[in-house]
Amino acid sequence: MRKNIVAGNWKMNTTLQEGVALAKEINEALKTTETHCDVIIATPFTHLVSVVNSVEASRIGVGAENCADKAEGAFTGEVSARMVASTGAKYVILGHSERRAYYHETADILKEKVTLALENGLTPIFCVGEVLAEREAEQHFDVVAAQVKDSLFNLTAEDFAKIIIAYEPVWAIGTGKTATADQAQEIHAFIRKTIAEKYGNEIADNTSILYGGSCKPSNAAELFAKPDVDGGLIGGAALKASDFMGIITAF
Ligand code: 13P
Repeated sequence: MRKNIVAGNWKMNTTLQEGVALAKEINEALKTTETHCDVIIATPFTHLVSVVNSVEASRIGVGAENCADKAEGAFTGEVSARMVASTGAKYVILGHSERRAYYHETADILKEKVTLALENGLTPIFCVGEVLAEREAEQHFDVVAAQVKDSLFNLTAEDFAKIIIAYEPVWAIGTGKTATADQAQEIHAFIRKTIAEKYGNEIADNTSILYGGSCKPSNAAELFAKPDVDGGLIGGAALKASDFMGIITAF
């Protein structure tokens, strides 16, 4: 069966020293806490090696927040999937709405990134989600289905089975406005049905689909109680160990 997962996305926050301290604090807290989910932290590139070396791999999986859409070469400033994997990181967030919006990452670019991540043994956490105007126009199902299909449905079943999906409605990210648990369940079930139509029920049932967007200790339990919500991708609340632990223990 699919895994429950709580993943933190630190975004462009923390210095190296602050990030290592935060990772250690979470690692320590996990030693004395009974958990019912996998825990992942995704950090800036600069932090990866140090964070990998500061946590126990059996307690925390470490990931990057992005990788390049090219394998290697003259792409000044880019960081490849192979480089990410060489740090010991196991995951990479791809298709985050901030990357789509501010860095113009298209479905085709994301398709390349997903392929390179998989080729290098990284597990993509692939983000989808509609903006407010799309939700208000009731286009959210179409938008999310297209995001899943256009960047992932070229994959073989074997490769698709390695993907983690994160549904993050853009209007809920960093706004304090969370999707209701019923809204999350409705679209998570729709995403799972979309996957089933292409890859079959077994792969769809085994795909972890996380919710992201103003998820916090006070609302995590209600969201995670929904049958198709398999955990969370956490921004702001992942930057404070006690809040992040409060979400982890919501399972
Ligand atoms: P917030 O939890 O800060 O709303 O961010 C969610 C997010 O974008 C995680 O990737």
